[in-house]
Amino acid sequence: MQKRNPVIIAPSLLSANFARLEEDVRMLEKAGADWLHIDVMDGHFVPNITIGPLVVAALRKITKLPLDCHLMITEPDRYIPDFVKAGANIITVHVEACPHLHRTVQHIKSLGVKAGVTLNPATPVSSVKEILPDADMILLMSVNPGFGGQEFIPSLYRRAATISQWIHSQGLNCLIEADGGIKLDNIADVYASGVDAIVSGSGIFSASDPGSMIASMRKACSNVDTVSV
Ligand code: DX5
Ligand code: ZN
Repeated sequence: MQKRNPVIIAPSLLSANFARLEEDVRMLEKAGADWLHIDVMDGHFVPNITIGPLVVAALRKITKLPLDCHLMITEPDRYIPDFVKAGANIITVHVEACPHLHRTVQHIKSLGVKAGVTLNPATPVSSVKEILPDADMILLMSVNPGFGGQEFIPSLYRRAATISQWIHSQGLNCLIEADGGIKLDNIADVYASGVDAIVSGSGIFSASDPGSMIASMRKACSNVDTVSV
């Protein structure tokens, strides 16, 4: 039985109002968000195009919240320095986009930023086993990346439990984050499967009161004190 740290809630700005980003960031700060999750899409690795380093730099100027940058792009190494300069705190790359994953993780860490590694729902969890001692975070996708508002894929529970067991049996210092389709009705189960940090976009922004939705999500996780899967 492994004692849990409090859940980390990382609202995804993908569901924010891009014409009023600052207003939404202030609302999330007030509501006690832990990190801001920023979905970077290039129209190539995923079918959608979203945010680049310029927007990250603009956000950096207005908030002290950690900027959790999820790069859904091919050849992420080319852009890592730009995201570091823009003020990212965590840079997460897709294992499917990194033929030299160990080198990419070392590259991110050498620039003084936390390194995350993410995998799509159909990518075997074993693809990150060797990188666990080097990575600061594993991000498990619980939807196919590219869009907000998709349905949660439940294999996440089993995948998170497996990776959590690998991390804790080796005494490693690596967080697990989950991303996609997480809402108030499944957040406690996701957390209970061993996930430390939870991304939620539509689950927070489509609530009538996003601030109190974050509080309800946190409360739902507060009764979970072990990894249950
Ligand atoms: C999907 C993105 C997610 C997305 C989550 O490609 O990586 O971060 O914004 O949105 P919801 O919570 O609406 O599934
Ligand atoms: Zn994301």
